[in-house]
Amino acid sequence: MMSDNNIVWHDTNIKKEDREALLKQKGVVLWFTGLSGSGKSTVANAVEKKLFEAGRATYLLDGDNIRHGLNKDLGFNTRDRIENIRRIAEVSKLFVDAGIITLSAFISPFIEDRNNVRGLLKDRYIEIFVDCSLNVCEGRDPKGLYKKARAREIKDFTGIDSPYEKPINPEIIVRTDIQRVDECASEIIKYLTVNGFIG
Ligand code: PPS
Repeated sequence: MMSDNNIVWHDTNIKKEDREALLKQKGVVLWFTGLSGSGKSTVANAVEKKLFEAGRATYLLDGDNIRHGLNKDLGFNTRDRIENIRRIAEVSKLFVDAGIITLSAFISPFIEDRNNVRGLLKDRYIEIFVDCSLNVCEGRDPKGLYKKARAREIKDFTGIDSPYEKPINPEIIVRTDIQRVDECASEIIKYLTVNGFIG
C-alpha cells in the first residue's frame, strides 16, 4: 500500500497468526488505567507472574519505566500525556502482532485517548479500570507524590490539579481498595480464559 509520503507498507512472510500458533495464545493488550497509587503496576505484575508461571509469553509496559527511555522527552501536561499514550498504543500494537500478552499500565487519564487505543487494537484491547478512591490512593502515597502535589511542589498531578476521566464501559473493573491483589489477578486471568485468549 502506497501512502502519500512515499512510504510503502511491507508485508512480512511470517504473520501474526503464525506467531500465535507457535505460542499457542492470542496477542492481546491488558490496558490498566487508574489513578497514581491505585495499584496498576502491582496488579499488572501479579497477573504477569501468574501467566509467566503458566508458560505464557508476556511483556509488561509500565508508566514509570517507559518514561525513563522511549518517552523520557515527555512531561505531564495534556499534550505530552496524549503523545505518551499514542506511542504506548503503537508499541502495544507491535507486541500484539508478535503474539504476546501485553500488560500496559499507565494512568491514561483521558477517555478519548483510551478510545483511540481501543480503535487501534480493536478486539485485542481489554480495558481494566483499577478503581480506587482518590482518598485511598492519597493515603497510600507510595512515592510521596501526592504530598508534593498538595504542597504545589509538583504541578499537573492527576486527581489534584489534572483530571482523571473514569472509564465508562471497561471490560474489567478491579477494586483494589476492597479486593486482594491475588483476587484481582485471578479475575483478569479468568477473563482471558473465558474469552479464548489463552487455552
Ligand atoms: S500518563 O498520565 O498516562 O501519561 O502517566 P504515566 O505515563 O502512567 O506516568 C505516571 C507515573 O508518573 C509519576 N508522576 C506523575 N503522575 C501523574 N501526574 C504527575 N504530574 C506525575 N509526575 C510524576 C507517577 O509515579 C506515576 O506512576 P503511578 O504508577 O501511576 O503512580
